[in-house]
Amino acid sequence: MRKDIVLVLDFGGQYNQLIVRRIRDMGVYSELIPYSTSVEKILSYDPLGIVLTGGPNSVFTEKSLVMDPKILDLGIPILGICYGAQLIAHLKGGVVRSAKTKEYGKCVMHAEPSPLFKGVPASTVIWMSHTDYVEAPPEGYKVIASTDTCPVAAYGSDDKKIYGVQFHPEVVHTEYGNQILRNFLYEICRATGDWTMKNFIDEMVEKIRAKVGGRKVLLAMSGGVDSAVAATLMHKAIGKNLQCVLVDHGLMRKNEVSEVVSVFRDGLGMNLEAIDASDRFLAKLDGVADPEEKRKIIGAEFIHVFEDFGKKLGKVDFLAQGTIYPDVIESGFGDAALIKSHHNVGGLPSVIDFDEIIEPLRDLFKDEVRKVGFELGLDKKIVMRQPFPGPGLAVRVIGAITKAKLDILREADAIMREEIAANGLDSEIWQYFAVLTDMRSVGVMGDMRTYDYTVALRAVTSVDAMTADWARIPYEVLAKISSRIVNEVNGVNRIVYDITSKPPATIEWE
Ligand code: XMP
Repeated sequence: MRKDIVLVLDFGGQYNQLIVRRIRDMGVYSELIPYSTSVEKILSYDPLGIVLTGGPNSVFTEKSLVMDPKILDLGIPILGICYGAQLIAHLKGGVVRSAKTKEYGKCVMHAEPSPLFKGVPASTVIWMSHTDYVEAPPEGYKVIASTDTCPVAAYGSDDKKIYGVQFHPEVVHTEYGNQILRNFLYEICRATGDWTMKNFIDEMVEKIRAKVGGRKVLLAMSGGVDSAVAATLMHKAIGKNLQCVLVDHGLMRKNEVSEVVSVFRDGLGMNLEAIDASDRFLAKLDGVADPEEKRKIIGAEFIHVFEDFGKKLGKVDFLAQGTIYPDVIESGFGDAALIKSHHNVGGLPSVIDFDEIIEPLRDLFKDEVRKVGFELGLDKKIVMRQPFPGPGLAVRVIGAITKAKLDILREADAIMREEIAANGLDSEIWQYFAVLTDMRSVGVMGDMRTYDYTVALRAVTSVDAMTADWARIPYEVLAKISSRIVNEVNGVNRIVYDITSKPPATIEWE
């Protein structure tokens, strides 16, 4: 069972989630909580340690964010990063000054012997000083690292187990950043490293069983990673008392619905009902060209389908959802029950009669969800699935939607995916798919003149979809995809490859 937790107090820095992820990667459970969290609440977590994050503020302004100073006297190990380091110094009577210029970049840090810097030689650290710097540490604290331009790059007290670093250990370009965080966790907080996905699963299965007892849970699957892993975990805990439903809106990729059914119903033995609602959706979408209109129609139709399903099903005790930690943090902190407003299951809570929501993955980052998926024995194909828009292929048929166009796109897209995988490029490329443009042009096939559609291929490398670059797919692979699509898919006579990055383009062609 997991016991250790390190809290990360959020002062608004851009890397705050990253700090939590790094700590968890090192085997210690961690949560991001608001800087203003009360001492009582903090004590209720019984944390092993506390990290104060960076942030855009200065300790001198009226608006500066300050936690309850009593947190520094609890005897709990603390690591202040950047703004966090300045704040500790400021609150404990050290000398903090405002910098004349903002500094960003790399510099070489020389560390003194300290548990925080065990095994850390002179090495590069990343600096992001927005405003202030520590000129002298508070009484009882000593300087433990410096750089050529900054005499106090880090300070600390081994007795109090409180440390401040003015650089960012969580950023990969800080050479020994991981070692420094690991030292904080294991040398200073004395963590046991009990955060593993196996422990998470064991603990969550127990919790779900205790909560649900013999009652019934409904879960809407979208085919995506989060709902698939949530369903598998729930199923492990409560078996047949889990009812899953998958709405086929007719906008899925080739074989997608049958694959989900074969893995989860036929393979794992889940209660899974696949509702074929494609006629309903296509009737509503027929001829609709405007992208926003398409999205609205699809969202509304989902609700109608669930409403009908809900009437048939009657009251359920619990509704399970695949909400994950970034959904929770990004929706803001607060105690209100959070309902993921995902388009695939959007509106479900409003039309299904249920008592309570269960979100078994709400503490996990996406990479942890994937690890849980693997740990539960799910196949790579499901666990590493690419992002796919809730409104599905409707987004990738440009212009008016028809069944014929969707069928063309499904075939072209399947060929592209097949060839990318066959050439071993699927793990390098972040997302890849075909788009059916609204453009037709003249071509020749044999002796025949054709007037057919142009298919665009899109493949990007990215880390978070915020920015992306077009993937440098080898020409031979592009050539094979192109010739296969024009030869095997009726209605297509031209293939283009999208070579724009994001920005200025987007990943989808919507
Ligand atoms: P864009 O096209 O804005 O897409 O660069 C960024 C990422 O978001 C995905 N995407 C969606 N994902 N529901 C989703 O879950 C949606 O409605 C949706 N629309 C776009 C897109 O595939 C890309 O990965």
